[in-house]
Amino acid sequence: MSQLSTRHLLGIKELSEEDIRLVLDTAANFKEVINRPIKKVPSLRDITIANIFFENSTRTRLSFELAEKRLSADVVNFSSSTSSVKKGETLVDTVNNILAMKVDMVVMRHSSPGAPHFLSQNVPANVVNAGDGTHEHPTQALLDAFSMQEKLGDLTGKKIAIIGDILHSRVALSNIFCLQKLGAEVRVCGPTTLLPKYIESLGVKVELDLHKILNWCDVANVLRIQLERQQIKYFPSLREYSLYYGITKKMLDQLDKKIVVMHPGPINRGVELSSDAADSSHSIILDQVENGVAVRMAVLYLLAGAKG
Ligand code: CP
Repeated sequence: MSQLSTRHLLGIKELSEEDIRLVLDTAANFKEVINRPIKKVPSLRDITIANIFFENSTRTRLSFELAEKRLSADVVNFSSSTSSVKKGETLVDTVNNILAMKVDMVVMRHSSPGAPHFLSQNVPANVVNAGDGTHEHPTQALLDAFSMQEKLGDLTGKKIAIIGDILHSRVALSNIFCLQKLGAEVRVCGPTTLLPKYIESLGVKVELDLHKILNWCDVANVLRIQLERQQIKYFPSLREYSLYYGITKKMLDQLDKKIVVMHPGPINRGVELSSDAADSSHSIILDQVENGVAVRMAVLYLLAGAKG
């Protein structure tokens, strides 16, 4: 298989196992390219891509822009806070106006779950979801899987723990879909107030005890407490959260085996992860960021070649 089964990347849920493996294999080739002295290839030199961000981002936005430039695409960046969205222009009008300038692909981050799916049905361009509210963050899951594979090899039967604020996390949902399709066993851990009621229906076991899940897993993917999405209090205080669910280097060093620690960023240092754990030899957090460029190159390259 050399083509994706879709012309949009809206979520991992819509991808087949073959699609995911194709992205990961293609990303491995692009990782080799971006480690050469000349990091650019001409693959997308006739393509123009708009990155439209309605929510803040550091990693995803810069990573997509670098991926596009490494593929020789033309790139325009749009930030809703400085745009005519502030004057009341709709999402579809905004994007159709951008497309009128001969743009071929749209990479969008939006706070509303389903916004990229809606856009893909209403505009004539490939749409890539760069995170839609609390729903999905497909390229994060793909780069996480790529980074885990680099460390552990094939993920079949590997034990992956997702720890923290599962309720508000698009990374958790995309990781669960992606890792299960690759044959891994996924469990979640966090306070019951931050675990969605439907989570076990996804084939995911719940573990409330942090020490037990750390002893069980090969990888701990630690998630940020998303205070900006929390309208009510889900736990008494950050200090209390950290006491029960914060991971420290001492805890990692006391485990019987060496586990891999991941975090999609941005980290709340001293809350879900202590600084010494985040910066320890267990952590592959900056490898995840490095791999994000290669994985996004693979996604854009494959979508550009996908049939409509
Ligand atoms: N991991 C991630 O999505 O980070 P940003 O919000 O900085 O893009």
